[in-house]
Amino acid sequence: MDKLDKTLMGSLLLAALFSSAVSDDWKASVTKRLDALVTSCVVVPCSFSHPGKTLPTSKLRGIWHVSKDRDQIIYNEDQTKILDSYKGRTKMLGLLGQNNCTLEITDVKDHDNGPFCFRIELVGTKTEKFSFIEDCVDLTMQHSPPEIKLTPSRAAFEGKAYTATCSVRHTCPTFSPKLSWSRGNADQILEKHEEINPGVWIMESILTFVPEEKDDHSQLNCTAAFHGGKTTSKILHLYVKRAPNYKNIIIPIVVLVVTAGVIGLVSGLIVKKYKKRIMELQSQEGSVWNRMSRFSRRFRSDAPPPSQTNRRRQRGGVAEQKVSKPRLPSPKSQPKCYNEDHDDDDYQNTVDLNIYGNV
Ligand SMILES: *[C@@H]1O[C@H](CO)[C@@H](O)[C@H](O)[C@H]1NC(C)=O
Ligand SMILES: *[C@@H]1O[C@H](CO)[C@@H](O)[C@H](O)[C@H]1NC(C)=O
Repeated sequence: MDKLDKTLMGSLLLAALFSSAVSDDWKASVTKRLDALVTSCVVVPCSFSHPGKTLPTSKLRGIWHVSKDRDQIIYNEDQTKILDSYKGRTKMLGLLGQNNCTLEITDVKDHDNGPFCFRIELVGTKTEKFSFIEDCVDLTMQHSPPEIKLTPSRAAFEGKAYTATCSVRHTCPTFSPKLSWSRGNADQILEKHEEINPGVWIMESILTFVPEEKDDHSQLNCTAAFHGGKTTSKILHLYVKRAPNYKNIIIPIVVLVVTAGVIGLVSGLIVKKYKKRIMELQSQEGSVWNRMSRFSRRFRSDAPPPSQTNRRRQRGGVAEQKVSKPRLPSPKSQPKCYNEDHDDDDYQNTVDLNIYGNV
């Protein structure tokens, strides 16, 4: 069973290969439908095959004609056979020897809608001819250029590379549209040109620059100039975000830190001042108290009540013991003591008297 399957498949494959080789017949591959910008150009991709061995370009004659009538020729090597309205406007771009029948129509007119079909003639002893009337191109006439696509890569940030892409599709790769920007020089612009579908091309221009603060609310203008003179442009409004790393973050932080520092310093000073003042007040209170107490003592000594006299005597006794020891060997220090403690003269007097009394 398995063996049989394999044999069957092998023979089928062989048959397929053989049939393809055999059917290397009259075939053409032409882009069926294309847009064509009036005044510009259009290039119709086309390839074909013919029976027999490949022939050099010189042995092949390629013709493009209007589909309904193969005598309405729009392209022929022999210009005299071409319809007047197409004279000088059509060109065989492809090399027939490479099975390439690509056609170019320039200075496109509104009536160039087609459909147009390719016809091949094998020049020889016995000329073979074939019109590929099944594979023709239909042109859709455009009077205004296709719209430009203008896309920014992302939001614009001050000081950071910003990219904008301008692109336009077209069908005229031999004279492709020129894209230009309202700003930027050659080093900032990158161009790309690629075929996205048979016969349909995209021309792309990528502009990269570093926006500055002054570019905020400015316009970016991309213009496409098509072969034949038609132009189209598109505007992009640029909104530049200010560099967030410096002004928007650092400054508030600095302000916060400075404010906090100032507050700290001020409160520190206030506390210090208060402390000083409290201490001042305390010392003032102390001195006032001292003075008051001294005053009251003096007052009391002038008219001592009986109970106070007893206390004075006791205190005097204590003072007597304390002072008597160091003062004995140096009586010279006595006047000094008087000067220093003249406020407490009534105690000292008592003490000294006692000392002298002891001596
Ligand atoms: C046919 O010729 C055109 C014009 O030279 C060329 O751009 C295109 O790539 C050719 N096609 C193939 C299939 O080689
Ligand atoms: C954009 O550029 C084109 C071509 O230079 C110009 O015609 C058009 O007026 C410009 N648009 C603006 C808004 O600047």
